[in-house]
Amino acid sequence: MALLDVHDLTMRFHTRDGVVRAVEAVSFQVDRGETLGLVGESGSGKSVTCMALLGLVPTPPGRLEAGRADFDGTDLLSCGERRLRDLRGRRIGMIFQDPMTALNPCLRIGTQMAEVLRCHGRCSRREALDRAEAALRDVGIQDAAERARGYPHQLSGGMRQRVMIAMALMAGPDLLIADEPTTALDVTVQAQILELMRGLQQARGMAMILVTHNLGVVAGACDRVAVMYAGRIVETGPVEAVFRQPLHPYTEALYRALPRLALEPRRDLEAIPGQPPRITAPEPGCPFAPRCRHAAPVCREPMALRELSAGHATACLRRQRGEL
Ligand SMILES: Nc1ncnc2c1ncn2[C@@H]1O[C@H](COP(=O)(O)OP(=O)(O)O)[C@@H](O)[C@H]1O
Ligand SMILES: [Mg+2]
Repeated sequence: MALLDVHDLTMRFHTRDGVVRAVEAVSFQVDRGETLGLVGESGSGKSVTCMALLGLVPTPPGRLEAGRADFDGTDLLSCGERRLRDLRGRRIGMIFQDPMTALNPCLRIGTQMAEVLRCHGRCSRREALDRAEAALRDVGIQDAAERARGYPHQLSGGMRQRVMIAMALMAGPDLLIADEPTTALDVTVQAQILELMRGLQQARGMAMILVTHNLGVVAGACDRVAVMYAGRIVETGPVEAVFRQPLHPYTEALYRALPRLALEPRRDLEAIPGQPPRITAPEPGCPFAPRCRHAAPVCREPMALRELSAGHATACLRRQRGEL
């Protein structure tokens, strides 16, 4: 049985301008020790998916319309705030994009790390501080004792992200949810942090959801990938299979937008023509159709993921019908 089984997660925002369908009928699983990449352009619903699992979507304006998320026997979407607070940090670690807003600028690094342990366990202050220093060493921070006495602003962006990782892993979670953990960093530091996370994840047998807008990040860091577009998963499968043969035109477009050579200047998803849809007014059928070079009348029919080979599923109706 999967460690996390998300079924039909649907989260909408009821705003003055209309209903934003941020996450529509999203289902996926994460096994113990495995890394699932959640990839898609900005606004595709990746963060809302993660925040919904952690009970961190502001409601209102957010409203959970449907779904369950079974985490080792507990439904995260219905278990209530008390139970969630106990799971967050202890069994489910989190890392977000901007470590500066996640760290308290007024507290010493060691103190805020120790607090994570103190609010979940019954360890002493000294013991918690020792474990905080050990955790800093685990993420490759030299002079851990000295760093622990310092403040967040004294660290570089890469170092702060290492602190966030150390903090998220300190309680030994079974699942780590990392939402664009390297997006704010420059490319070389990004690679170091990803490698660090991958190493720690494998050493601990921890499962991970790695959110990114960059398909290139997925290639090196994930076992399986789920591609999101306009709040839905349009393709999912093992990383090698999806890279060998993408089964959705959107994934193909993301793939083509990747730089072929390390020397080539960084290109981004802007290479896909057109705009993501306004998800307040969804058309029926495939949300990618207006930008898709293979679009046909059939694409206006309701879509659903269908598995075409082992564990590899697409929501593209034309692909499902063998027309592409
Ligand atoms: N608090 C909110 N109120 C209204 N809309 C929101 C709120 N949070 C997110 N959204 C909308 O939900 C959609 C998905 O956002 P998000 O999950 O942050 O995208 P991603 O992480 O993939 O970039 C976007 O259209 C975003 O504007
Ligand atoms: Mg996001």
